[in-house]
Amino acid sequence: MEKETGMTRTVLITGAAHGIGAASARMFAESGDDVVVTDIDRDAAATVADEIRAAGGTATGNFLDVSDPEAWQALSRELRAANRPPAVIVNNAFFQVGGAAHEQTEDDWSKQLSVTLSSVYRAMHTFHDTLTEARGSMVNVSSVHGVLAWAEQPAYAAAKGGLISLTRQLSVDYAPHVRVNVVLPGAIQTRQWNHQSSEDRELAGRQATLQRLGTPGEVASVIQFLASDGASYVTGASLLVDGGMTTTLGA
Ligand SMILES: NC(=O)c1ccc[n+]([C@@H]2O[C@H](COP(=O)([O-])OP(=O)(O)OC[C@H]3O[C@@H](n4cnc5c(N)ncnc54)[C@H](O)[C@@H]3O)[C@@H](O)[C@H]2O)c1
Repeated sequence: MEKETGMTRTVLITGAAHGIGAASARMFAESGDDVVVTDIDRDAAATVADEIRAAGGTATGNFLDVSDPEAWQALSRELRAANRPPAVIVNNAFFQVGGAAHEQTEDDWSKQLSVTLSSVYRAMHTFHDTLTEARGSMVNVSSVHGVLAWAEQPAYAAAKGGLISLTRQLSVDYAPHVRVNVVLPGAIQTRQWNHQSSEDRELAGRQATLQRLGTPGEVASVIQFLASDGASYVTGASLLVDGGMTTTLGA
């Protein structure tokens, strides 16, 4: 059973100042949820929250470096004091350094795993009780890179693959009260693609059977679905949101 409909849920989203996280924040707020817009980009998180409130929604912008256990504790104290216990957590933040394994330093490797994978452990460690109390859910943001390899992204691949098995594990350990699911986006038009050449963007578009990059909103709507009553019998699931990229050998 999900929390009764009609009650305001608090939804905490990490990496919500830009891209898929920001689109998710707007979408949850539009359907009446109270959104905690967290990010290391404090100003941009505040701007997203300001825009949500200006549109009639409920949100705050909160600093959260997902790699810092103490920052999770500080946010937990703040949200509990404000009677905003998260019923839904969307783990979306990531950090990526390119380069083959021998080119990556210990620090590069550790930071990527900490931000992208261990942050999900921290989220559950910190808020398992509020998710359980709310009969809530967690949605993790992996990638098609969790099931296929592209050149010179070893820590990203390890973290994104790890998110798929960690999701399955958490869905077992916190059942029956908390549902835990993961989405695997393909190429989504966010600022991440601004650094890529137009040839690479076009190739990624052609590799999707839908013949284009996705939009942040097209991932946000799937995240929102997984956190909704409509997905009340879905847990431990990995859902591709890749426009068909991984269904064929591509362009
Ligand atoms: N864009 C794509 O093509 C694509 C494809 C597959 C998966 N994804 C996944 O989607 C998610 C969102 O990516 P995006 O494309 O929207 O990128 P983005 O750069 O627009 O957003 C990522 C956000 O994470 C924040 N962030 C970085 N380090 C952080 C930290 N330590 N603590 C908290 N926040 C931190 C950034 O400030 C930023 O706001 C990521 O998990 C990414 O791996 C994206």
